[in-house]
Amino acid sequence: MPEPKLSADRLLLFGATGDLSRRMLLPSLCALDADGLLSPDLKIIGTARSNMDDAEFRNLAREALETYLPDERRGGMAAFLNRLSYQALDASTLDGFDALADKVNEAGPSDSGMAIFLSTAPSLFGPTIAGLKHAGLTGDNVRMCLEKPLGTDLASSCVINDAVADAFPEDRIFRIDHYLGKETVQNLLALRFANILFEPIWNSNYIDHVQITVAETVGLEGRVAFYNDAGALRDMVQNHMLQLLALVAMEPPTSFDATAVRDEKVKVLRALREVQATETVTGQYRAGAIGGEAVPGYDEELGKHSDTETFTAIKAHVDNWRWKGVPFYLRTGKRLPERVTEIVVKFRCVPHSIFEGMGASMLPNRLVIGIQPEENISLSLMAKVPGLGQDGISLREVPLDIAMPDAFVGQHRRIAYERLLLDLIQGEQTLFVRRDEVEAQWQWVDQVRSAWEAAGVKPQTYTSGSWGPSSAIALTERDGVTWHE
Ligand code: BG6
Repeated sequence: MPEPKLSADRLLLFGATGDLSRRMLLPSLCALDADGLLSPDLKIIGTARSNMDDAEFRNLAREALETYLPDERRGGMAAFLNRLSYQALDASTLDGFDALADKVNEAGPSDSGMAIFLSTAPSLFGPTIAGLKHAGLTGDNVRMCLEKPLGTDLASSCVINDAVADAFPEDRIFRIDHYLGKETVQNLLALRFANILFEPIWNSNYIDHVQITVAETVGLEGRVAFYNDAGALRDMVQNHMLQLLALVAMEPPTSFDATAVRDEKVKVLRALREVQATETVTGQYRAGAIGGEAVPGYDEELGKHSDTETFTAIKAHVDNWRWKGVPFYLRTGKRLPERVTEIVVKFRCVPHSIFEGMGASMLPNRLVIGIQPEENISLSLMAKVPGLGQDGISLREVPLDIAMPDAFVGQHRRIAYERLLLDLIQGEQTLFVRRDEVEAQWQWVDQVRSAWEAAGVKPQTYTSGSWGPSSAIALTERDGVTWHE
């Protein structure tokens, strides 16, 4: 057993008044507190540019909790608010960092160290780390957690990683991909490695292809500048979708340990084949309707013309022994008809049908892992339709369904940040992304972007509420594959 790490007793939140903090971080911390998962000694120090005192910050936090945390999870809110204090800081200059250090020390001596969460613009990562270093806040018992976007390409991500590495060794750096905090994403590991059933057939001999879909109904959501510079490939594929792909494709790690799991994921990411522009589709939504409600087009929301893709579909390959010839079809987009994240594993047909000539149609087995909004696992099997079969035999696909909420009644589902914040405080890195993973992800994404540039790819339009441009359907259909919908 690895040595248990000491739980931090200080949490320093940069960007504490921002959207992520109010919607996710403060509610998650309060929920952890209500369940007795935070040490009584843990003090949370918020910092951001706005001038406010402790009381005003606690008020802001209270409003956030009342807005974003369900009533039944707000038990002990007053005690949680008492953990909070605040120090205003302009992180772009060194000036305020000594005062920040004083504020941290005001919380009393720390026995077990501090976790720092950077939820600020990436342009502030470098100056913030320089400031922390200057103020003596990067000691051996300090962990650094970074929220995306970690760069816009490999080069810029290396600049960020170098700046962080200047003050923290890799075993104290926690890079968030919030998909790894999702319960069903972790369940993928349980499904693969806690059951004997799947692993022997989890390869190109038995699997025909894999589909990974992350569909959203939302549009720009006010993140105009960020999204228009990023696009679907960098916003969703570079991180969340490649992490899902790596978890599906990786070899069994020797244990659920940060090094073992991440070693296996990075091998997959490095084995991703270069993609041709013709193996991809890009799209941008136009006005349409979602759930019966009219929504504007991307260009209208943006107020100008743009070539940013809000949809992309890619046929990817993992060039290794296990996955030879198995396409991984990735698809993500905004303003699609429904919000769904799922992984579909389509198995091969049986090698020989004993029912041939008896009128029975056979379909290959399919495993669907629903990540959101429903958390479920469904395995489709062929079964005989009941009857006496005078005219042959009739077979039909029937699902073996597990709805996670039904299977685990009474366990409340936790949002991703609860898991990740707890792991950060406890120093557990398995569900955080290592530098070599991020860089392998960027390397592949940069190659896709170069292929688009070389081929002069411009996004095709699609109507909001549809499943993207029709060429996304053609991308799979030319391989005889239909997207699971
Ligand atoms: C974020 C992206 O990383 O993930 C957003 O920046 C996207 O554009 C979000 O909407 C999706 O997360 P979830 O958890 O709602 O699927």
